[in-house]
Amino acid sequence: MTDSRLAVVVLAAGQGTRMKSQTPKVLHGLAGIPLIGHVLATARALDPAHLVTVVRHERDRVAATVLECDGACTIVDQDEVPGTGRAAEAALDALPNDFEGDVLVVSGDVPLLDADTLTRLIAEHRTQGASATVLSAVLDDATGYGRVVRDAAGALDRIVEQKDATEAERALTEVNSGTYVFSVPALRESLALVSTDNAQQEKYLTDVIGLMRSAGRPVAALPVREGWLVAGVNDRVQLSDAALRLNAMIVRGWQLAGVTISDPASVWIDRTVTLDEDVEVLPGTQLKGATSIARGAVVGPDTTLTDCEVGRDARVSRTDGTLAVIGERASVGPFAYLRPGTVIGDDGKVGTFVETKNSTLGRGAKVPHLSYVGDTTVGEGTNIGAGTITANYDGVNKHRTEVGAHARTGSHNVFVAPVRIGDGAYTGAGTVVRKDVPAGALAVNVAPQRNVDRWVAVNRPGTAAADAAAAARESVDDPDTA
Ligand code: UD1
Ligand code: MG
Repeated sequence: MTDSRLAVVVLAAGQGTRMKSQTPKVLHGLAGIPLIGHVLATARALDPAHLVTVVRHERDRVAATVLECDGACTIVDQDEVPGTGRAAEAALDALPNDFEGDVLVVSGDVPLLDADTLTRLIAEHRTQGASATVLSAVLDDATGYGRVVRDAAGALDRIVEQKDATEAERALTEVNSGTYVFSVPALRESLALVSTDNAQQEKYLTDVIGLMRSAGRPVAALPVREGWLVAGVNDRVQLSDAALRLNAMIVRGWQLAGVTISDPASVWIDRTVTLDEDVEVLPGTQLKGATSIARGAVVGPDTTLTDCEVGRDARVSRTDGTLAVIGERASVGPFAYLRPGTVIGDDGKVGTFVETKNSTLGRGAKVPHLSYVGDTTVGEGTNIGAGTITANYDGVNKHRTEVGAHARTGSHNVFVAPVRIGDGAYTGAGTVVRKDVPAGALAVNVAPQRNVDRWVAVNRPGTAAADAAAAARESVDDPDTA
């Protein structure tokens, strides 16, 4: 049920300088979705009456991604005054004037925080009747974070940013997670008093804590149960740390849901993937995007699937696939490359060193070895010979190849598209198929073989080949030594 007294504000206007990237920080990917996508999903799970994201740096790109992740989120622009305090001010301006509930402020760069922790934070804030409740964390390495400063009695006094902290303050290990619940009227009043008189010349949201405390308002800091929950992503080291942590949780979640994963450390599964019970994921496998794998399928080792659908009991080994559909009991790899638009029928096969693109293989159709199959339809039960290439591109346009059902094409063929090979047709080894082959016909167009007798003896005298040929001839000429 919607919490009518709750607004959530996601801060995402900062530049993210420490990422050293053309991509805004909050758009960097983590387990298949942007950092901010994780934050928005968690925020939405709280069912707030208002959800607002503050943007400024690369405004259009960030806003577009926010709306892709959560179409109902309100986008608010921060002006040229920098700092998290200014961002919060802009967000408050976007809330209805008569909204006097609580606002949960979260950072777009803190992706691992879960809804349970936030629900507890909000509940604690409300129970205590606080003006501000800060989610803090005690970390072994507090570098970069704002420090929580408590008074002699242990009560929250203020937050000091690392860049403004004294040596003694830097030694404190309790940090500000950048996540807070505020009573909206108290936050409005306090933000109006925040200056930019600090090391970064920014309007810090963290300054409201000291101001509220001085004004006699109740403030508190609540340490999170595990520090990694509030890990901020400011650079690429922190990004990979967060990815590792999140992946471990995702893999464990699937194991508990009935998926066999013998080597969790080498398997990467995006948050957007779905797996059935009794799927097995072998080492070195990455499952990305909207990939789904049905019961009994075995995927890996060393396989990367992006936006693929794998049918029941299929087997996919050492394969790279994108936007491919793999039928039930189908077999793929080892060493297959499935490009977008590949559809492999039930009981079908795409074997070793085979590349496919924009092609549909019917039920039981097989491309077992060393082939390129592009822009092609293959009928059910057909076997494509080893080393077959569809010549689908004439340098300007792409053309289709159609092979009927139960055809048997020879090894080392070229199908020069557009071309059709009929149902039940055969082609000889080495055929270059330039004309349609009628159903049931055999197509052959390789020139008859001519043997030039003694060519090696005449043209390559004295070589090992010539000696071997001479020895072979002697044994044929002289049956005694044969
Ligand atoms: C902030 C906190 C710090 C805390 C840390 C936790 C302040 C002043 N400091 O520092 O106490 O320990 O988070 O991760 O708040 N943003 C805006 N507008 C701005 C600047 C930033 O919306 O003008 C957004 C950023 O996009 C980001 C979030 O606010 O999502 C935090 O900004 P960031 O620059 O990462 O602050 P930290 O230095 O990490
Ligand atoms: Mg940060």
